[in-house]
Amino acid sequence: MPATTEANPGPAIDGARLLGRLRRLAEIGADERGGVTRLGFSPEDLRGRDYVAEEAARAGLSARVDAAGNLIVRGPRRGGRPVLMMGSHLDTVRHGGPLDGAYGVLAGLEVLQQLAPRETAMEPVLVAFANEEGARFPCPFYGSLAVTGRLDRGADEIADERGVTLREALRACGGDPEALESARWRPGSIAAYLELHIEQGPHLETTGTTIGVVGGIVGRTVLDIEVRGQAGHAGTTPMKARADALAAAARVVLEVERLAGDDGRCAVATVGRLSVEPGVTNVIPGLVRMTAELRDGDRERLRAAEEELARRLAAVEGSGVRVTAEVSDRIAPVPTDPVLCSVIAAEAGELGYSHCPIFSGAGHDAQIVAAVAPIGMIFVPSRNGVSHVPEEFTADAELVAGARVLLAAAWRCARTAAPAWGRIR
Ligand code: GLV
Ligand code: MN
Ligand code: MN
Repeated sequence: MPATTEANPGPAIDGARLLGRLRRLAEIGADERGGVTRLGFSPEDLRGRDYVAEEAARAGLSARVDAAGNLIVRGPRRGGRPVLMMGSHLDTVRHGGPLDGAYGVLAGLEVLQQLAPRETAMEPVLVAFANEEGARFPCPFYGSLAVTGRLDRGADEIADERGVTLREALRACGGDPEALESARWRPGSIAAYLELHIEQGPHLETTGTTIGVVGGIVGRTVLDIEVRGQAGHAGTTPMKARADALAAAARVVLEVERLAGDDGRCAVATVGRLSVEPGVTNVIPGLVRMTAELRDGDRERLRAAEEELARRLAAVEGSGVRVTAEVSDRIAPVPTDPVLCSVIAAEAGELGYSHCPIFSGAGHDAQIVAAVAPIGMIFVPSRNGVSHVPEEFTADAELVAGARVLLAAAWRCARTAAPAWGRIR
């Protein structure tokens, strides 16, 4: 392990540079509500990725886009050494904030910039994963699924609301839908994965803690639900003769809420999208399409909640109303790696930051990478616990603190020879 002395100081985060880059990136896709809208595979997303690639080049790093649209940033190649991957995403939800994903990518860039010129046993690599949110193309974690070889749908099978296929959008962003397999990393080539992220919940702020050491990440099931009734004249159809799809859908929404709320069958449950046809004031709604999203940290509970919801949806049917539900996404909850957790906690402590174990209620690319490599995640506080909204905010000092912990943890991992991996503490 190279000694760090006064003449040869260890790597250090340039906080001003990190914060400056965060502010610049937040201008890309800045929207009329004061938030950021950089939907996956949109022109704004592409501009965000171009910005990160330019900053990487300015720092003497190389950046390329893989077939799935991931931006991969590397320093000098380290001759087949195991890779210490850092990453997060640059896409946002509609009217999201400036930090979700972007923070992990730019902090990772800062860390890579510090580590690339140093002699390390592992090669640090940064990945800005494509389409983590899935807000435009409903295939969240697209980039990390490709990297781990777990994409299960072709680029023609996925389209946005306007019917643009992922194939077209991917091409426009520098990806290659014909060569998606090439985005997969060789099994065993990723020795470890670290992701820094804002908490997006209230725990760190309410406990006055600077650093969260993530012990596990929530699982999620997404269902596409259709409620079919009978459209008809809103003035002439007697109330008793109606099959109002929206009135039935309202009961579905309440069942979803009750499943997690009063009944506690899973941690949280949300209907986040709903459309009504024909959507006309004086026509009884004939068709409602909606999504239901269930989350829990326990795989079995999540399955049981799914089954319970199916029973409740069946109970909504009747009087000409039919309800169908199809699972469009099922992502398992995962634990993080205990060795990486102890490295993160030890480094946070050494830097003098308060820290605590925490569970992630949000999904992250890390949980996809967990299928092929040990993962570690670091959280910093979110003001008022809010995220996915323009008000998303973390104080500058906390943003820099998180990046310092990421650097310290990455530095400790990267300079440890792979055989000693189990002993890094
Ligand atoms: C990712 O942002 C999620 O929805 O948890
Ligand atoms: Mn998000
Ligand atoms: Mn995120």
